[in-house]
Amino acid sequence: MNEAVTKQYTMLRDKQIIVGVTGGIAAYKVAELVRILAKKGANVHVVMTKNAMEFVTPLTFQTLSGNPVTHEMFELLAGSKIGHIALSDLADQLVIAPATANIIGKIAGGIADDFLSTMVMATRVPVLFVPAMNTKMWESGIVQGNIDRLRENGYEFIEPDTGDLACGWEGKGRMPSLEEIIEKMEDIFTVKDLVGERIMVTAGPTQEFIDPVRCMTNRSSGKMGYALVKIAHRRGAEVILVTGRTDLPRPSGVEVVEVVTANEMRNAVMERQAKCTVIIKAAAVADFRSKALRYHKLKKKPGEEEVVLELDRNPDILQELGRVIEDRILVGFAAETENLIQNAQDKLKRKNLDLVVANDVTKQGIGFGSDDNEVTIISAHGRAKHVPKLSKEEVAHVILDAVKRVIKKKRKYKDDWY
Ligand code: CTP
Repeated sequence: MNEAVTKQYTMLRDKQIIVGVTGGIAAYKVAELVRILAKKGANVHVVMTKNAMEFVTPLTFQTLSGNPVTHEMFELLAGSKIGHIALSDLADQLVIAPATANIIGKIAGGIADDFLSTMVMATRVPVLFVPAMNTKMWESGIVQGNIDRLRENGYEFIEPDTGDLACGWEGKGRMPSLEEIIEKMEDIFTVKDLVGERIMVTAGPTQEFIDPVRCMTNRSSGKMGYALVKIAHRRGAEVILVTGRTDLPRPSGVEVVEVVTANEMRNAVMERQAKCTVIIKAAAVADFRSKALRYHKLKKKPGEEEVVLELDRNPDILQELGRVIEDRILVGFAAETENLIQNAQDKLKRKNLDLVVANDVTKQGIGFGSDDNEVTIISAHGRAKHVPKLSKEEVAHVILDAVKRVIKKKRKYKDDWY
């Protein structure tokens, strides 16, 4: 079960990836890219141009990929198949990193005079270019024109980063981070099955101030909510993230609303809920806040051994949403330390949810702060699906699949009213 679920959601596992390396200084970084891709379960084949071999040796890539490296135009693979055709037939995706102005120009101009350019011409699978070059080359009208031409023909690109360049210049032209490249490669493989949905996700802890320097909060890292945001966006949904304070990098391509307290989160959510088709409340909201609003630091008094803090109840945002949700989809989380299923089911009924995602926060290696999670998803019809320990991104896929099933059921019922 674990293996099957992982296979389904780990986009790069068992994929045949061809990495084309051209002659730029960033070629050394691609060695690490190949290592990561292989670690993620992809079968990586590296194709190098002559110039690339001036920067890194084929042996490096062969060792990291576990496959022979191709660089000769007229190299024959096993049997009598022509190398570039055989390799491009077997590929699921081709990534060219770093992509120099030269390879971009060659492909745009229809030139196929070495193994890599011939293979790009012969393939029908997605081709991702990761340009890296000097700023002035990147900005030149000829390079930009070639990129436009390739984009129009369905080739994918990642924009270079801005910063210090190996040639001594500063500006746009650096190869983007390996995370960004992998994210884009996974994105290319992802089915956009949530297009048309507007999904709001709340994530992270809230903080309640006791005085200007102290606060009450909890151990939520926000990772589960952020994983949901990333995967929902990747699957084509329009996403709004309402986030408490976390150290996580803010996701790009989504609306991000920063909040601190439960009241701020409540207001941010209620203002935006009407325009959402799905709301997922992954945030760990503080149930109480200090009764007193203190503008100065609480001082110790001589001889005082005990202090009593008076607390007020915070609004239960999920419960409030349950009253206005109507035929849209509402998903809650239940962090439990005992009677997991029973407590989660009670929450689902009490708060009028479509789904509740329950996790046992006492279990080691999952939940708070961890990169993995193990949950049980319970539906309003009483169905329960146990999701074994997986990465939070994989769990996010399973949750969104469950959301999709609820959407389908609810809309079908709505359409079939007659
Ligand atoms: N939640 C909320 N507003 C609150 C408290 C919780 O919206 N003031 C939401 C959380 O985002 C989560 C769900 O309610 O989706 C469950 O949170 P949890 O802390 O597990 O449960 P509580 O509702 O606080 O219930 P209990 O104290 O009984 O565990």
